[in-house]
Amino acid sequence: MTVSVRAESRIDAGGTQTLDGVALTLGPDNSPMPARAYTSPAFYEAELETVFPSSWVFVGHERWAAQPGDFMAETVGSEPVVVVRGLDGELRAYSNVCPHRASLLAEGRGNCGRRLVCPYHGWTFDLDGRLTGVPRRRLFDPPIDPARLGLRPLRLDTWEGLVFVNVSGDAPALIDYLEDVPRLLGGHQIAGMGLGAFLDDPIAANWKLVMDNAICDYHLSMVHRSSIAALVDLDGVRDRAGATTAVAAVPWTASARPAEPWPTLTGDAARGSLGCYVFPNLHVIGFPTGGATVMWWTPTGIAGTRARVLSLSHQPDDDVRAGAELLAAVQREDFDVCERMQRGIRSNGFRPGPRHGEELRIVTFQRRLMEMLATAAGERTGPTPRPAGGRP
Ligand code: FES
Ligand SMILES: [Fe+2]
Repeated sequence: MTVSVRAESRIDAGGTQTLDGVALTLGPDNSPMPARAYTSPAFYEAELETVFPSSWVFVGHERWAAQPGDFMAETVGSEPVVVVRGLDGELRAYSNVCPHRASLLAEGRGNCGRRLVCPYHGWTFDLDGRLTGVPRRRLFDPPIDPARLGLRPLRLDTWEGLVFVNVSGDAPALIDYLEDVPRLLGGHQIAGMGLGAFLDDPIAANWKLVMDNAICDYHLSMVHRSSIAALVDLDGVRDRAGATTAVAAVPWTASARPAEPWPTLTGDAARGSLGCYVFPNLHVIGFPTGGATVMWWTPTGIAGTRARVLSLSHQPDDDVRAGAELLAAVQREDFDVCERMQRGIRSNGFRPGPRHGEELRIVTFQRRLMEMLATAAGERTGPTPRPAGGRP
């Protein structure tokens, strides 16, 4: 089903832009989004069609495509994307859709040699996206012009080895989009970390419930009481919410902290975790040990999400393995509450309760989502109040 956000949106009697009956703005004091936003097919389609394509979306680690011909396929909202390393060593992103009859060109990760070959009728594209081969071309009548049938290039940029794609081409420069995250995580030297464990799991919950949970610090003492709560100083957590990123500085207890933090870390980065959320669906957490986790969540249906985690570390393999076990346990704890929320969110009697101070980072997610949908609907709803919050 394809739903145009412009066609589905309305202006209500008070002059507010709405989509499927939901006002496209957060309420007073940035109160949480209504439940309908998590269950509405119109919302879900609009998110795929406008929010993801207009954002910088993480698509993988650049070392997953290290050699010429290496590719990684991903989906950004409703757009299939392929990132491929050219013969000149450059990473490029294209729409992963064959310009003949829309077959996907590549799936997963691999190496395609010197060309991408469509599995349907065999059209062939070089790594610069040019159409270079068309089987039995003489039977096209009128004759086709290969120069007009190349792959559609997409905007790509990288930060610390992490590859991002902006499908619409008009998001702010990636370095600006990331706000102060490059400075906060600069000492971790993420680009130089080794690749460790990779987890890939389904969650039976809407991706927005999953995101809310991913950047909620309020649940740590309850949901993660037997995994990570004892390792962190929950009274010392400090959050800040920006326009496209939100950061939580979470100090570790003295006993959990490494005797020697990674040598280039100072301040909050040496004392604990820095959880850096990047709109819409990425969370990069730097640790004082010289490790990091990259977590991202991809919608697979209105009530389904794919959760992926990549562990990175400067440390030896043993430490990475121990960390991966803890990470898998934390993931399972989170999946359980997300699926519980999914079962509750359709209740007719439910109205979202008040927002806790340790849910501040969720404001960045929900506010930007609403603003982007309102923009796509063709009318801004006016500036929304910015939340208070210290900067870590
Ligand atoms: S769909 Fe790709 S060659 Fe026909
Ligand atoms: Fe959690």
